[in-house]
Amino acid sequence: MALEDVLELKQQLQLRAPWIADHTQRVADFTDVYLDALLFREYPGLNQSYADKIKFAAHMHDIGKSLMSPDLLNAKEFSAKQRKSMRFHPISGFNMLLDIDFDVALMIRQHHENYWGKKGYPDGVQGDDISLGGRVLRIVDSFDAICSVRPYNSSPLSYVSTLDHLRESPHYDSSLLAIFRKLFYTGACVIDNPKKPAANIFFLPQSPVYSQN
Ligand SMILES: [Fe+2]
Ligand SMILES: [Fe+2]
Repeated sequence: MALEDVLELKQQLQLRAPWIADHTQRVADFTDVYLDALLFREYPGLNQSYADKIKFAAHMHDIGKSLMSPDLLNAKEFSAKQRKSMRFHPISGFNMLLDIDFDVALMIRQHHENYWGKKGYPDGVQGDDISLGGRVLRIVDSFDAICSVRPYNSSPLSYVSTLDHLRESPHYDSSLLAIFRKLFYTGACVIDNPKKPAANIFFLPQSPVYSQN
């Protein structure tokens, strides 16, 4: 698929499910700041060009949902069949991005894979078999999903409770998560105010926190 076609689908998705557009923008904002911190710390396996791909993948991570009906996108609860359809979106997104950039396509395919336990989807891969981009998106996407209002969740957790929840879960790469948590806690200026734009939550990039271990 050509990039312009994918962007058109993204726009259509935005109209059919504005909450997904808001979620995607927050995930992209968090990912931007998070990756700048990881680059500053020279996180193994990460360089500027791969980080740029992750940032792009953040904008596109749920693009596979553009193939779903508005009813399904905005459902308050899911039947087993609907859940199965919903779980196909990483594969749809992978197929859409495949001709544009394989690394990005793979990150999108893997953004719901679990670091431990092989219980993620769609492939059930785990550990470092999940691309670094997939592991980064898994954290940031879950963080926003758990602490934001969605059609099927009107009682989101606070930022602090969400971070605790992530820490207790086996779904995330713990070394990456530790940096996400540290970045958040040291830089948080508006904790527990979900109305603030995501980028305001993190500290500025000039912060000395980036040089801490
Ligand atoms: Fe997703
Ligand atoms: Fe998402």
